[in-house]
Amino acid sequence: MAEKEENKMEKIISLCKRRGFVYPASEIYGGFANTFDYGPLGTELKRNIKDQWWKKFVVEQGSIVGLDSAIIQNPKTWIASGHLSSFSDALMECLDCHARFRADHMEEGKFIGGKAMEKNQCPACGGKKFTDPKEFNLMFKTFVGVTEDTAATAYLRPETAQGIFTNFMNILQSNRVKIPFGIAQIGKAFRNEITPGNFIFRTREFEQMEIEFFVEPKTEESKKWYDYWIKTVEEYYTGLGLKKENLRIREHEKEELSHYSSGTSDVEYAFPFGASELGGIAQRTDFDLKQHEKVSGQELKYFDESSGKRYIPYVIEPSLGVDRAMLAFLVDAYDESDGTDGRAAGEITLRLHPKLAPYKVAVFPLVKKEGLPDIAKKIVADLRKSGVMTFYDESGSVGRRYRRQDEIGTPWCITVDFDSLKDNTVTIRDRDTMEQERISIKELENIILGKLK
Ligand code: GAP
Repeated sequence: MAEKEENKMEKIISLCKRRGFVYPASEIYGGFANTFDYGPLGTELKRNIKDQWWKKFVVEQGSIVGLDSAIIQNPKTWIASGHLSSFSDALMECLDCHARFRADHMEEGKFIGGKAMEKNQCPACGGKKFTDPKEFNLMFKTFVGVTEDTAATAYLRPETAQGIFTNFMNILQSNRVKIPFGIAQIGKAFRNEITPGNFIFRTREFEQMEIEFFVEPKTEESKKWYDYWIKTVEEYYTGLGLKKENLRIREHEKEELSHYSSGTSDVEYAFPFGASELGGIAQRTDFDLKQHEKVSGQELKYFDESSGKRYIPYVIEPSLGVDRAMLAFLVDAYDESDGTDGRAAGEITLRLHPKLAPYKVAVFPLVKKEGLPDIAKKIVADLRKSGVMTFYDESGSVGRRYRRQDEIGTPWCITVDFDSLKDNTVTIRDRDTMEQERISIKELENIILGKLK
């Protein structure tokens, strides 16, 4: 990683901790490697990422219904899905220091744990001798009930998708859905990654936003929807402010494809540690439903009333990571001044899209007296009642208060001053233009709600 880019990641990680976006998990016990907790601002940002996804991928589509399935499913699920036999990475161990790495990362000379490595060189000790690659299943095992034997072994789901496939018949029978239609789910997934790293980019516990979109089992239908979902995913990221030039679509080579896919495109973002996958759109064909039909013995076919045909549909799957989206939005929004743009050198502005920003508005009384705090607090209460996340701050100079809000991405700051006492107006300052306007308190709510639309 170039030094400047490495610095940028370090600065973002530090900002995340300092301002309450992301904390190292279990910190009072010395932490727990590559595990993170989301603080108050991170929780808001993550929730906004998920809400905006739900709006675009479920509410606006009309042909998609939601699901919230269990994390621990009957273990046969993972036999049918192929995860028990095929969801593995090849692992190599350094013969000198016994550190373990993914064989493909060794061969490609990737960044591991934020460190650049040469091809086939151990990033921990520089050693060059390794064991032969050995397959390592990525699913987390657990035991259900009080006995810890093989019969009680269960797995934490490595993708949310399988809960959708196992509920395919339930949804057909309880909802009036017609192909083409999709089932959406947001939830946690778990993978015992060999080399987690790059902050919240690759962790062992993460969140996915997935859709299984069922179409007629014809190659041209599958291709049409594949293209549609690639475009929609791209629009989701750019619509929320990711710069188009930092995104690219990369089609998988044949040998990269997951065991269930006949074609996958990754949406990659130019992270400081290199272009890496944000999400993927896969053509899963009829692989999963066929497998579940075979292993469960239950028929999982769709009856098409118009043609009188019964078939297993093909599936297109747009699958995005919540944590990776959050990291990309943070990296893209991070803007540190060099002192030539009207801000002091080193000042940080997080240019998050207003729909993603944890707080939409901050309200400041100019001074802590003469009734200004009461007016400001009333504005905060009214905006919050209208569903606008609003922050109240009365400490320090107004300039410092602006800077504190710029750093966490608050798009608008409102100041209540002495004129407010005379004419019921306030100033509203825009984070990006830094321009201020005087508006009437009565109009405030409509103006903010209008901007958020
Ligand atoms: N159901 C398809 C599926 O799970 P995937 O490419 O393995 O496909 C989908 O995962 C998305 O989940 C990825 O594009 C990424 O955003 C996120 N993801 C996967 N592994 C992750 C990890 N270890 N940490 C954080 N996010 C991860």
